[in-house]
Amino acid sequence: MNKSDIGIYGLGVMGQNLALNCSQKGFAVSVYNRRDACELTAANDFLCKKCKGKKIFCSASISDFVDTLSMPRKIMIVVKAGAAVDEVIEQLIPYLETGDIIIDCGNSHFRDSARRLSRLESLGYYFIACGVSGGKDGALNGPSIMPGGSFRAWEESGYLLQAIAAKDSDGNPCCDWIGPGGSGHFVKMTHNGVEYALMQILAESYDFMKRLLGMNTDEINSVMREWNTGNLQSYLLEISADILLIREEDGSSLIENILDCAEQKGTGKDLSVTSMELGVPSTTFYEAVGARVVSGMVSERNRASKVFGGPGAFTGDRESELRALKDAVYCSQLVAYAQGFLLMARASEEYNWGLDLAMIAHIWKNGCIIRSSLLEEIAETLKDRRSPDILLEPPFSESINNMQAGWRNSVTIAVNHGIPVPALSSALAYFDGYRSERLPANLIQAQRDYFGFHGYERIDKPRGTFFHLSQEGEGI
Ligand code: 6PG
Repeated sequence: MNKSDIGIYGLGVMGQNLALNCSQKGFAVSVYNRRDACELTAANDFLCKKCKGKKIFCSASISDFVDTLSMPRKIMIVVKAGAAVDEVIEQLIPYLETGDIIIDCGNSHFRDSARRLSRLESLGYYFIACGVSGGKDGALNGPSIMPGGSFRAWEESGYLLQAIAAKDSDGNPCCDWIGPGGSGHFVKMTHNGVEYALMQILAESYDFMKRLLGMNTDEINSVMREWNTGNLQSYLLEISADILLIREEDGSSLIENILDCAEQKGTGKDLSVTSMELGVPSTTFYEAVGARVVSGMVSERNRASKVFGGPGAFTGDRESELRALKDAVYCSQLVAYAQGFLLMARASEEYNWGLDLAMIAHIWKNGCIIRSSLLEEIAETLKDRRSPDILLEPPFSESINNMQAGWRNSVTIAVNHGIPVPALSSALAYFDGYRSERLPANLIQAQRDYFGFHGYERIDKPRGTFFHLSQEGEGI
């Protein structure tokens, strides 16, 4: 019997679509799913309906599954991040041979990936901690793929990952080698932080148009569609506009009947914690996570809405506010991307990963959730640049200089009318802190020394020399 080129463990919608994608690219695929009843029904349905006539083979046991694969075996794990990944790896290990490759395509934490990499390599196997973005459609038609871990495994399987990946406008795959350790999953986690921030920025602009400017969903849809033809063009904007057009059977807008309580699987929170550990300001990501948490306070919000009043209604000029809002969205999105690249640069330094930020921006040009015209411009700008700080690069610094008045206006008017804009305003606060030569941290340092004798540096002395407000043990 001819052996399969690739194995896929896990037949949820992502696993199914990755299997179909691999098969469409001409690879023979073996699939395996856990044996519990509910998952089995979905998997059987998939196998009966979508796999007919394709080179996709389902095995009844793990040993058969592993046995059907050509050497070195390449096995993609597409299961929920966390304990399930460890369980699947442990199930596979007894059947693997030296040089076999496991590719974890979920949103695993990069530290778990580093641990799994060490364990598998110590046993003579290879491991790819592989970020995959693009949701179910991306998995089927070409996702953005961020593989890291065992370089030897990339040499063996890179051709396959690049074949199933999305392609940029020149036909180049949106998949390339990221680096060692858990770097592939770190980059995917950063992608998700930017994803959270961009989603929150668009949600805030929808709220601004709806509650502040009093626009209906059709009007908001046409503004978003118009934005999507220019410098704000993005996948998330496109789907947001589409969503606004979805109707209930009675013709009303579905969006108004969706519960306003945002869930999260954890990558945004993991990213926020990690960026704090690394000392990188990822403020738009924190705010996006925080806004989801506030949205979850459904009953509390209900009670508070009856206790507190808010400011009066907006009476100004809608068109000029829309122009300002467009600038606010652009600048805030730029800050979110900038914070993502700063975080990856810092992580690369800390973990010695040698990340190529221009290449990562290229991988994100198509297939992934945060693809946009702005990202394409960032990818161009990062080429041949040493600094990861995209805000300082002329195309972007000029845009911000031209647009910051509109940005400030939108944040001010939202605050004055009681519309929460945590992402738009935290991006602006970050920008204002970043462009301030002097910040009030001098007072913080003095306070720390006053109550805790922690020491402060002086502007007229070399860095690293510490002074105190008083002699040790003495009050002032
Ligand atoms: C992607 C997405 C994908 C998933 C998010 C959802 O790039 O395809 O990021 O991985 O949709 O993890 O995350 P939340 O449930 O946390 O919003």
